[in-house]
Amino acid sequence: MQSLTRIPLVDLKAQYRCIKPEVDAALQTVLESAAFINGPAVAEFEQAFAAFCQVRYAVGVASGTAALQLALKGLGIGSGDEVITVAHTFCATAEAIEHVGARPVFVDIDPSTYTLDPNLVERAITPRTRAILPVHLYGLPAGMDAINEIAAAHGLYVVEDAAQAHGARYKGRTVGALGHVACFSFYPGKNLGAYGDAGAVTTNDPELALRVAALRDHGRMISADGKRAKYEHELVGYGERLDTLQAAILQVKLRHLPDWTCARRQIAQTYRQALASCSALTLPCEPEGYEGVYHLFVVRTPYRDALRQYMREHGIETGVHYPIPLHLQRAFAHLGYKQGDLPCTEQAAREVLSLPIYPELSEGDVQRVIDIVLSFFASR
Ligand SMILES: Cc1ncc(COP(=O)(O)O)c(C=O)c1O
Repeated sequence: MQSLTRIPLVDLKAQYRCIKPEVDAALQTVLESAAFINGPAVAEFEQAFAAFCQVRYAVGVASGTAALQLALKGLGIGSGDEVITVAHTFCATAEAIEHVGARPVFVDIDPSTYTLDPNLVERAITPRTRAILPVHLYGLPAGMDAINEIAAAHGLYVVEDAAQAHGARYKGRTVGALGHVACFSFYPGKNLGAYGDAGAVTTNDPELALRVAALRDHGRMISADGKRAKYEHELVGYGERLDTLQAAILQVKLRHLPDWTCARRQIAQTYRQALASCSALTLPCEPEGYEGVYHLFVVRTPYRDALRQYMREHGIETGVHYPIPLHLQRAFAHLGYKQGDLPCTEQAAREVLSLPIYPELSEGDVQRVIDIVLSFFASR
């Protein structure tokens, strides 16, 4: 039998091959200009990304983690404050809250969407709560109407963790414009990924945008004419600028993102139709009015570990996002949570499995993934 090639979870080399001439030319322009720090590509990308998210401002920063930290800091959230979020996410969501001196307060997820359950938020609010931080996990927007309503009723900020959801839509609006401020990651494997670390903060609030722009660059304020004073520091800031080379790459890739998102949605649709008959498998849902961008295609099953092993044996790489919820991680032990506190989160951690999905995944390989999943369940 002819040995089949391995199907990875994501294939960044395939994507680079498709856009190599454009990326190489963009890099060449930066290299020849030698404008490596705060070069023109940064502001150009920021404008394009703000337009893409349908917001007034996008501020490029060094990573998604920096975006979260600077957004919280820019809102004045710090010591003694609480921020309500989820434990079913990448650790950076809660790390950023800790790093500004605030306390993450974890609430459970809605098991059908894997995002913050708005019904549980109100009982987690205390006099110290300053913000709600939903995560648009796997590329599906959180239930933003209910979250925004609660936030408005209690005078709280809403900070979107949009690291996995570039271009996702919620009731006709784009992720990044659904709260007070949103935080994006351009980690290489993201739907819009740089070739290194990068991120952005988006907002419609001009003062917040200025503060975040200053915080990322050692507290230097940008004046109305766009100039920075080199040795005047208004705030105690950070070295968390968006690298110009990364901005140039992101500019190129942003132009392709709508097509890539269509391709992801098409693959998701094919998986959904083909796997619908598997009763032991729960497929990702997309509630009415939501348009996910399928950063990950996540199924769940009580047989997760056996299915994962079977797929590995058949040359198909899968992922688990995420196997240990944040409230049970040693890093957050000081918060005092225990097993059983967030039952839906804990069950998801035991059962979720991410299947390969990326725009360049061929129809043949999608079919191979489907065949292997079906054959696993047929043999049970
Ligand atoms: C949900 C979520 N939040 C935050 C981050 C942090 O982004 P970065 O890795 O760019 O710092 C990531 C990405 O890894 C993420 O998936």
